[in-house]
Amino acid sequence: MTTKKLYIKTYGCQMNVYDSARMADVLAPLGYAPTEVPEQADLILLNTCHIREKASEKVFSEVGRLRPLKGLAEADGRRLLIAVAGCVAQAEGEEIQRRAPAVDIVLGPQTYHRLPELVRRAEGGERGRGLVDTDFPVESKFDFLPEEAAGQGPAAFLSVQEGCDKFCSFCVVPYTRGAEASRPAARVIEEARRLVAGGAVEITLLGQNVNAYHGEAPASSSSGAGVGDTWSLARLIRALAEIEGLERIRYTTSHPRDMADDLIAAHAEVPALMPYLHLPVQAGSDRILAAMNRKHDAEAYRRLVGRLREARPDLAVSGDFIVGFPGERDRDFAETLRLVSDVGYAQAYSFKYSPRPGTPAAGTGEQVPEPVKAERLAMLQQLLDEQQIAFNRATVGRRLPVLLERAGRREGQLAGRSPYMQSVAVEAPPRLLGRIAEIEILEARPNGVTGRVVTLDTDRAPDRPRNPQPEGRAPAPAA
Ligand code: 5AD
Ligand code: SF4
Repeated sequence: MTTKKLYIKTYGCQMNVYDSARMADVLAPLGYAPTEVPEQADLILLNTCHIREKASEKVFSEVGRLRPLKGLAEADGRRLLIAVAGCVAQAEGEEIQRRAPAVDIVLGPQTYHRLPELVRRAEGGERGRGLVDTDFPVESKFDFLPEEAAGQGPAAFLSVQEGCDKFCSFCVVPYTRGAEASRPAARVIEEARRLVAGGAVEITLLGQNVNAYHGEAPASSSSGAGVGDTWSLARLIRALAEIEGLERIRYTTSHPRDMADDLIAAHAEVPALMPYLHLPVQAGSDRILAAMNRKHDAEAYRRLVGRLREARPDLAVSGDFIVGFPGERDRDFAETLRLVSDVGYAQAYSFKYSPRPGTPAAGTGEQVPEPVKAERLAMLQQLLDEQQIAFNRATVGRRLPVLLERAGRREGQLAGRSPYMQSVAVEAPPRLLGRIAEIEILEARPNGVTGRVVTLDTDRAPDRPRNPQPEGRAPAPAA
């Protein structure tokens, strides 16, 4: 089989990064090998994101930039195919085909298992509407995708849940990714084992609303599962924690409403579950939270964080925020700042509200003027940056187990993550790559910390717990 080259450009969230890897897996049997150079590609795949601003315009301009490569490939006696996948494809499939004839294939996030078939047909010269696949098929793509490629490295991702039924009024996800669905627990465990056998030390469980996970229970589960029984995310995490060699488990992204008691308890009881939680709140004003259809108020979120910190006192909390949601007044925004001060975030992401076509909030009257959004965003980001640096500073002098995941930016350095998701840079020999080392934190930087290697975690006596927690508790970040 001749080798063809596949160039993938990924936009947006971790779920898309994961999906891109799976699409590369599914195309390997057709002879496609990855390339970093679009000029060499026989197939260019844009895996798109629709969550915020100008998503589709970005796709159209990217296709415009890539189009000349088709001519170059032809002059070279090759044929270049362009495919658009992901959430923009789902939302605007037909429009893409109409406005960008250079695009050969359009497919939504639920039909990646059909990609080889579409590519084969496009290679055979087929064009047109038949190569747009934005179905929400009854079959799950996961039943048809090949096994997880095991070579993700020490910190791997594993998709366990997809879609969302929450319908926050600003968000396209329920429309582009479809209804909530969970993968059966037995499949997840099997894939986790394979990832660990392939060198993973940490696994992050992915889902748009991951803590709503309710996957089919394994047939042989000790709880005596019957047909139709499901496992919660907490139950799944407990089972994964049993896998020899899997030292760290994380999950993202969670909705406050699905933070079940057993999941909070898991933060207290499962040492492999890392003390870091991404728990978006979006806003601090009850009026705005209601208009966003978040289904909880600010006090419920504060209480929830309180309970989580009771379970795991050193929990580092991260969040997402939207400023300038329709109807947000100064006093609403002040409530967001107050909530941020009360909670104390180790990390956060904040965005200006962007009306997404087809979402309920996009049509509502009182849109906030752009300069007001910009001013609020700057204020919020300043507070969040201060909290992040305070969190990082408070770890200086401590010894933390750090998973060294990759080469650092500077010669002789490795980079990794602390249990709190801080990025850590250290001088370390390449042989420590993929290992957990005890690192003394020396210096706080705005986006991470630097440290020095104290000992290799895996050098310790075998009777020590397999999954040591950092000593003491992380200081509460300054407000
Ligand atoms: N405008 C701005 N931010 C948005 N997000 C989702 N939809 C929008 C929108 N229409 C943000 C939310 C979400 C994160 C992934 O993206 O904060 O948690
Ligand atoms: Fe979007 Fe998250 Fe709300 Fe679901 S819970 S609609 S993914 S913001």
